[in-house]
Amino acid sequence: MIIYAAKDYEEVSKKAATVMGALIVSKPNAVLGLATGSTPVGMYRYLVEWCKNGDLDFSQISSVNLDEYRGLSGDNDQSYRYFMNTNLFDHVNIDKAKTNVPNGLAEDADQACAEYNAIIRSMGGVDMQLLGIGGNGHIGFNEPSDVFEKETHVVDLAESTIQANARFFESMDDVPKQAFTMGIKNIMEAKKILLVATGAAKADALYKALYGPITPQVPASILQLHSDVVVVADEEALSVIREKGLL
Ligand code: GLP
Repeated sequence: MIIYAAKDYEEVSKKAATVMGALIVSKPNAVLGLATGSTPVGMYRYLVEWCKNGDLDFSQISSVNLDEYRGLSGDNDQSYRYFMNTNLFDHVNIDKAKTNVPNGLAEDADQACAEYNAIIRSMGGVDMQLLGIGGNGHIGFNEPSDVFEKETHVVDLAESTIQANARFFESMDDVPKQAFTMGIKNIMEAKKILLVATGAAKADALYKALYGPITPQVPASILQLHSDVVVVADEEALSVIREKGLL
C-alpha cells in the first residue's frame, strides 16, 4: 500500500488525478471504476482540465460506477448518473455509451444487480477503482455489516449515511433510504485501488480501514488484503494515523 500525504483538498485532488491520469496515458482503453461524493469532485476537475488542454484522451476509456440511489432517475440532480455527467462525462471526450452507472429505477432489483455484475465481467474487469470512504468506513454503499456482501446488491443505507446525505436534499423524506452498490468482491477484483479521503470527519474511519482489524463492520478494512492500493489523503484525514505514530 502506498500512502500519499497531501496538505489539503486541492493537493489530494491533483495527486489523485495524476494517479488516474497516468493510467489513462499508459492504457488508453482502460476500464475506470468511478465514485461520487464530495471528495473526488476536485480530482475530476483536474481530469477535465487535462483533457481540455490535450494531455488526456478519454476516447477509448470505459467506466463503471460503484453505486446509485434506488428510486432516483438519472435526470434527478441528486442521482449519481447526473453527478458523473456534470462533473466528468459532459466535459471530456468519453463515449457515454461506454459509461455505466446502476439504473436507480430498475424494477426487478435482482435482475438489475445480476446484469451489472455481467457488465463488469464483460468489460474484462476494472483496471483502477476509485473509492471515497464514508465516516463509518463504508466503500461504495457497502455499509458496516456482519458479512462482506460480494457482488452488486441493494442495500438499506445506514442512518448515519442518510443523515450525511441529507444536506443534498430538500427534506428528510426526499433522501433515498436504499441504494444499488457494487459488492466487496467486485471492488477487490479491481487491478488497482485508488482511495481518496479528506477532512477530519474521515480520520477515524481511515485509521480503522488501514490499520484496524479486517472486519465487515469497517468495510474499507478489506482493502488491507488488496495487493495494489494507493491512498491519497490530506493531513486532517491522516490525523489519527499520525497521532498513533503509524505514519
Ligand atoms: C457516499 C458514496 C460513497 C462516498 C461517500 C463519501 O456514501 N456512496 O461512494 O465515498 O459518500 O462521500 P464524501 O466524499 O462526500 O464524503
